[in-house]
Amino acid sequence: MRVLRRLLGTLLRPVSGRICNISREYLSRLLLFDIVMGFVEDCRVEGCYLEFGSAGGGSLTDAFYAARRYRRLNKMLFFVFDSFEGLPEPTGLDANESRRYSKGDYACNLDRFKRTVHQRGVDLDRVTCIPGWYSETLNGELKRKLPITKAAVVWVDCDLYESTVPVLEFITDYIQDGTVVIFDDWFSFKGRRDRGEARAFKEWLAKNPSIQATEYHIVGRTMMSFIMQVSGPTAVEPVASEGASFAKLS
Ligand SMILES: C[S@@+](CC[C@H](N)C(=O)[O-])C[C@H]1O[C@@H](n2cnc3c(N)ncnc32)[C@H](O)[C@@H]1O
Repeated sequence: MRVLRRLLGTLLRPVSGRICNISREYLSRLLLFDIVMGFVEDCRVEGCYLEFGSAGGGSLTDAFYAARRYRRLNKMLFFVFDSFEGLPEPTGLDANESRRYSKGDYACNLDRFKRTVHQRGVDLDRVTCIPGWYSETLNGELKRKLPITKAAVVWVDCDLYESTVPVLEFITDYIQDGTVVIFDDWFSFKGRRDRGEARAFKEWLAKNPSIQATEYHIVGRTMMSFIMQVSGPTAVEPVASEGASFAKLS
């Protein structure tokens, strides 16, 4: 009996470790979506959910169900932006990362994406998919076509610096006080701030001095989120003693 138990333990240990790892990351994401949707509901942040990097629809499904738990978010609209061909060839600043990220990684075609999320119970009437490379699709013409007024939640999961730059440029007009921006791969470059999504965000904030970011939650291995504020003629001036929470990222 003891031999059998030991044998079973030996066989299952690698598998159970993997299951636990997957669940930890998965649960972290579920928790983050729930916190963020709860925040958006509590603070009455109006607007849509924008997702940049959707692959097979896992994150969209989780965001959809998280929103469904909150009464005011029952009619939230979801916009997903993806090549649906996977990652582009890592170039420019990302070229050195080609051992980690390769062209075509996470490819999932649009039909399969829609079928999958539909099977998981997502209401496709509230989901708009914008297929294509960000460098080609994210522009003023698209903005004029989309019924997006403001963003409540932005999920950035496109891994690469070169992909994140056009994404942030595109969302600039949709940012309002309380928009939550989540980066799935904030720490993916060994925590370096001069790589990947973190670098693109730092540069974008420097280019847009009216936008501030308050660090919100660090979740799972690599996720980071920020609550955004926009200063302007109608914005409330930050109180001096609250300075830390309004700190501009450097
Ligand atoms: C890690 S996957 C997203 C995973 C998904 N959020 C999930 O958790 O289920 C990254 C996605 O970003 C997309 N992507 C990255 N760079 C892109 C670009 N420049 N243009 C369009 N899509 C891009 C890829 O097609 C891929 O589907």
